[in-house]
Amino acid sequence: MKKILIIHGPNLQLLGSREPQIYGRTNLSQINAELKKLAKKNKVGLEIVQSNYEGRICDLIGNAGDKFSGILINPAAYTHTSVAIRDAIAGCGLPCVEVHLSNIYHREEFRHKSLISPVAKGTIMGFGPKSYYLGLLALLDIM
Ligand code: DQA
Repeated sequence: MKKILIIHGPNLQLLGSREPQIYGRTNLSQINAELKKLAKKNKVGLEIVQSNYEGRICDLIGNAGDKFSGILINPAAYTHTSVAIRDAIAGCGLPCVEVHLSNIYHREEFRHKSLISPVAKGTIMGFGPKSYYLGLLALLDIM
C-alpha cells in the first residue's frame, strides 16, 4: 500500500483553542481522524507528525524518499521563513502539496509570501480543515 507523510508545522498542536476566529474550533486530533478516514477510503497509508522544530521537519522530509509516495504539509509559520524546508522539499523527489487553514493573502503582509509554494505541486488554502482534505485528494490524484 502506498503511504503519505503528513506534516503539521509549528503551533498547529494548539488548533481548536488557538485564535479560533482565524483557525476555527476544530482541533488537530479531529483533523487527523478525518484524514485517516479519507486515507482508508482511498486505500492509502498515512503517517502524521506535528513538529515545532524546523530541523525535525527537514529530517522527516529528507528521510521520506524510500518510505513515502507523497507529502502533505502545512508548514505554518515556516511557510514564510524557511529556506531549509523549501530545499528539503525540492530535494526529496516526492510530490508535495502545501495546505493552509487560512487564506494567507487575506492576512498580514508578512504572510503573503510562501517560500514553499514554488516547490509544491500545488497549494490549497482558505478552507479551514477542508484545505487538508482537499489537499490529500489532490495529492492522491497526482501520485
Ligand atoms: C497557517 C498560516 C501561517 O501564516 C501561520 O503562521 C500558521 C498557520 C494556516 O494554516 O493558515 O501557523 O499555515
